[in-house]
Amino acid sequence: MSEPKKLYIKTYGCQMNVYDSERMAEALGGQGYVEIQTPDDADMILLNTCHIREKAAEKVYSELGRYKGLKAEKPDLKIGVAGCVAQAEGEEIMRRQPMVDLVVGPQSYHRLPELEAKTRSGEKALDTDFPEEDKFEVLKNRPKAKRGPTAFLTVQEGCDKFCAFCVVPYTRGAEVSRPAARILTEARDLVERGVREITLLGQNVNAYHGAGEGGDWSLARLIWALNDIDGLERIRFTTSHPNDMTDDLIEAHGTCPKLMPYLHLPVQSGSDRILKRMNRQHTAESYLVIIEKLRAARPDLLLSGDFIVGFPEETEEDFQATLDIIRASNYGYAYSFKYSTRPGTPAAERDQLPEDVKDDRLQRLQALITEQQKAAQDAMVGKEVGVLFEKPGRLPGQMVGKSDHLHAVHVQADGLQPGNLRRVRIIESGRNSLAGALVE
Ligand code: SAH
Ligand code: SF4
Ligand code: F3S
Repeated sequence: MSEPKKLYIKTYGCQMNVYDSERMAEALGGQGYVEIQTPDDADMILLNTCHIREKAAEKVYSELGRYKGLKAEKPDLKIGVAGCVAQAEGEEIMRRQPMVDLVVGPQSYHRLPELEAKTRSGEKALDTDFPEEDKFEVLKNRPKAKRGPTAFLTVQEGCDKFCAFCVVPYTRGAEVSRPAARILTEARDLVERGVREITLLGQNVNAYHGAGEGGDWSLARLIWALNDIDGLERIRFTTSHPNDMTDDLIEAHGTCPKLMPYLHLPVQSGSDRILKRMNRQHTAESYLVIIEKLRAARPDLLLSGDFIVGFPEETEEDFQATLDIIRASNYGYAYSFKYSTRPGTPAAERDQLPEDVKDDRLQRLQALITEQQKAAQDAMVGKEVGVLFEKPGRLPGQMVGKSDHLHAVHVQADGLQPGNLRRVRIIESGRNSLAGALVE
């Protein structure tokens, strides 16, 4: 038998890319590749890229530059670019970096075996189509390897919302939901392989409306069906849009036993004027109403969000409105970004704010968020939570895992295994994690 070829994949961007990278490794597994953790010995290097902000795309080019030496040493090494930069700039990448052999967009991963074969025959391969077929269905070549306790499962891809700053509708295409039965089969398979927690993914996951028994299924219906799978202990989903936060989904947060009390619900800005210019189709008030309903359904819900500062025409007053909505919403986690001009999006054409104004606002916003994050974490002390253990900690006898609210928790205890779900009393709040003790 010939030696397996070695595949190194480097993943950037969102969780959907993490999921896609797993699927790409599986697709190339059928071509005799095994995945390795460093690029040095690789026969193929794949960069699974992100285009969301300018820096993200620039990283790809500098990373490619680092492989020049490897490629010179080993002419058989194939270098591929996948993901959202591949979709947006495929041909330019081929021009700018002649060392790239393969470019594949996010909707064409099931064609990787053919594309790889093409590169082996000395040709360049480029595929940035939006094919009709369901790439995940074609990627059925799944080895039944044992898995860790947590997994991602993409249920929906693409976006039709066209926020004025965002490239996703262009790189990922129109919104498509996978059929419910296929998702449930994949979930059962993951559970058989050791998975205890599944995070359902989509660029707009709560807009999910997949074909299922008896018609169209909502995300809430899908979650309830997952709730019935024995051995699956926890369900999460991300990322959601406020306008798709339907009543059945809000209610599920109060009643569905396996749905965790955590929700990532980005609002981006607290100013209605800016929200309108962003084409978000919601107001600050309508967002706060949803939060109120969610907390009525599930009082201990930990909220997380995304914010953009320095969007074109954002005034100090607009920015203050963003700080106000942060104060009103009270986040357990939040991710904040300086607005980054994306060519081809509507906001790129507008008057841009100076960099120092953006920097200053980002700092002030992050100071507030850090305060809230710390307060939310400290408030867990004395409480009893579920913890799904994932791996040994830094100290001997220590195990770490995630709480129901997604806080990192470490516990000193004998006999705990990855995959164990235990009740834990939180005893201390550290810088980035909580310490707890098993509840007998
Ligand atoms: N679909 C998700 C988010 C996708 S992108 C949603 O609608 O919420 C993840 C985050 O990146 C966004 O929430 C936004 O805060 C940020 N982002 C997207 N485009 C950006 C840009 N051009 N500049 C800065 N941040 C951006
Ligand atoms: Fe981008 Fe807006 Fe779609 Fe989210 S909803 S992916 S921010 S266009
Ligand atoms: Fe980035 Fe594409 Fe995800 S642009 S955030 S990898 S959908």
